Amino acid sequence: MSPAPRFFVDPDIRRAQTLPAEFYRDAEVYRGLSERVLARSWQFVADVDRLRSPGQCLPVSLLPGCLDEPLVLTRDAQDALHCLSNVCTHRANVVVPGEGSFPQLRCRYHGRRFALDGHMLSMPEFEDALDFPRREDDLPRLALAHLGKLLFTSLDPAVDFDALMAPVRERAGFLLTDELVFDSTTSRDYLVPAHWVLYCENYLEGFHIPYVHASLASVLDYGAYRTELFSRVSLQVGIARDAEETFALPADSPDRAQAIAAYYFFVFPNLMLNFYPSGLSINVVVPLGPERTRVRFLSYTRDPVRFKSGAAAGLDRVEREDEQVVGEVQRGMRSRLYRRGRYSPSREAAVHHFHRLLVDSLDGAL
Ligand code: FES
Ligand SMILES: [Fe+2]
Repeated sequence: MSPAPRFFVDPDIRRAQTLPAEFYRDAEVYRGLSERVLARSWQFVADVDRLRSPGQCLPVSLLPGCLDEPLVLTRDAQDALHCLSNVCTHRANVVVPGEGSFPQLRCRYHGRRFALDGHMLSMPEFEDALDFPRREDDLPRLALAHLGKLLFTSLDPAVDFDALMAPVRERAGFLLTDELVFDSTTSRDYLVPAHWVLYCENYLEGFHIPYVHASLASVLDYGAYRTELFSRVSLQVGIARDAEETFALPADSPDRAQAIAAYYFFVFPNLMLNFYPSGLSINVVVPLGPERTRVRFLSYTRDPVRFKSGAAAGLDRVEREDEQVVGEVQRGMRSRLYRRGRYSPSREAAVHHFHRLLVDSLDGAL
């Protein structure tokens, strides 16, 4: 019999209690979240613009500071994209240290060569080795999935990528076009002095907008703000107060009669896809420690001028306001007097949904 689950969040939000403070304090839970939740999830790695021509290779680290898995993206001579382990199958040197264009990969430690699809091609001084090469001598190949021009991979996917992203494609697929271009001037990393789960929770409710974000509250209609839940995705729909910065929705959109200012998708466990009429802001939440989180803000714009208006305006200021409050919550989680709270059934459905997914994934139920 498997041990009783350590944490429980009632499926009925009306009576459920939030995660207890010990969830955020416990080092074992923190490690469990990395291994059972993050290592089994789909992670954004790059966009296809970084790998336009055959031979291009782009080393990436999967969640640096957390999973730290060295990977390399390649485009081979047949124009196929691959996501490979960037760790040499001989004695574990990192094969590709920097971005570049190569006909094949060559490890600089002892000269092992690999094709751009990971197949081992040659190895000096191995003539006398028995049963060599074997399949394990190729670089391990990971799944590579596309959402528009965004590329995702997973070390050990708990769910199918297309099923995971179906709600995003259905509602915002029309926005995932090739016109979206990475904008380095509005992209940056933030360091947040809090547990990564607290950062995500803050994102998952608009409840705090009138209290914490005065500027955002002036462009969004708080009364009409709503949340929709899917299997591992939640969607918060921001309705504009005035009709200026809203989506031109396609005829088959279920929202077509509404003045939508933003679609805020949370993809379990640590990805936010924020669609605005002017572009997309991706947030990747990277745990650095039980009280330290890096949040990568990556902007993709179709219209750099408009990106700074409507619900997309002042993203930096909104982020600072969130950081401030999440940092205070982290302090509160260390209190000897706080144990756990309750959820607002009308405003915290996505937080409840997230907590349920965390607990179930941690227990191995998902
Ligand atoms: S570690 Fe790569 S060839 Fe030895
Ligand atoms: Fe916020």
